[in-house]
Amino acid sequence: MELLLIEASPRHATSSLLGRRLAGALQEHCGRAVTLTERQLGRQPLAPLSAEYAESLLLPIDEARERYGAHLAQSDELVAELERADMVVIASPVHNFTVPAALKLWLDLVVRNGVTFKNTPEGKVGLLRDRPVLVAVTSGGAMFRDPPKQPDFFRPYLSAALGVVGLHSVSYVSATALAFTEQPLAHAASAADAWIAASLQGFLRNVPDQGD
Ligand SMILES: Cc1cc2nc3c(=O)[nH]c(=O)nc-3n(C[C@H](O)[C@H](O)[C@H](O)COP(=O)(O)O)c2cc1C
Repeated sequence: MELLLIEASPRHATSSLLGRRLAGALQEHCGRAVTLTERQLGRQPLAPLSAEYAESLLLPIDEARERYGAHLAQSDELVAELERADMVVIASPVHNFTVPAALKLWLDLVVRNGVTFKNTPEGKVGLLRDRPVLVAVTSGGAMFRDPPKQPDFFRPYLSAALGVVGLHSVSYVSATALAFTEQPLAHAASAADAWIAASLQGFLRNVPDQGD
């Protein structure tokens, strides 16, 4: 059983704490040995998109590999890492109403025509098997309110982008308005604990058995 933990903040702070607490609980309660793979997008940034990578997306995959093989290595590694995972935790802050640039770059490297999705007359169809994704998201302001106080381009955007590659089972755990609390880390920890108490078992029921 493999758990991929993706962290998107440049800081080791609230979203990391929230995501790590959730990932730890998933490991502890999963009932199987879990190997954790960590991808630090914020603190160990990926290389920016190259012209060759962008060109490669316009070609059939065999031709793209032949012409641009070495330039696809970073993307290939990220796709393989995602493919291996039975469950994924994405820990991320909200940056300007949406995902941080570091997470957007990761998406640009894993959402790949002919590799993780294909174009059909009906639109893009994901090529990865679905698996549960848990997004641990923190914000300084009052995100995710009804009625909204800030526009939410985070959840609809991230769910849509993950859906393109076939990841449709996306859940969100949030700790928001942290700029208005005295102890943002404690607030993030409470949000994790509340989700663990209420929703962890349900989430684990959706993790495929090995070999599925
Ligand atoms: C560049 C940047 C943009 C931000 N934009 C928003 C925003 O649009 N809405 C919001 O509520 N908080 C915003 N924040 C605040 C962060 O979401 C908040 O501080 C969050 O807890 C940071 O997560 P971290 O502790 O994991 O770094 C922004 C912070 C940064 C650095």
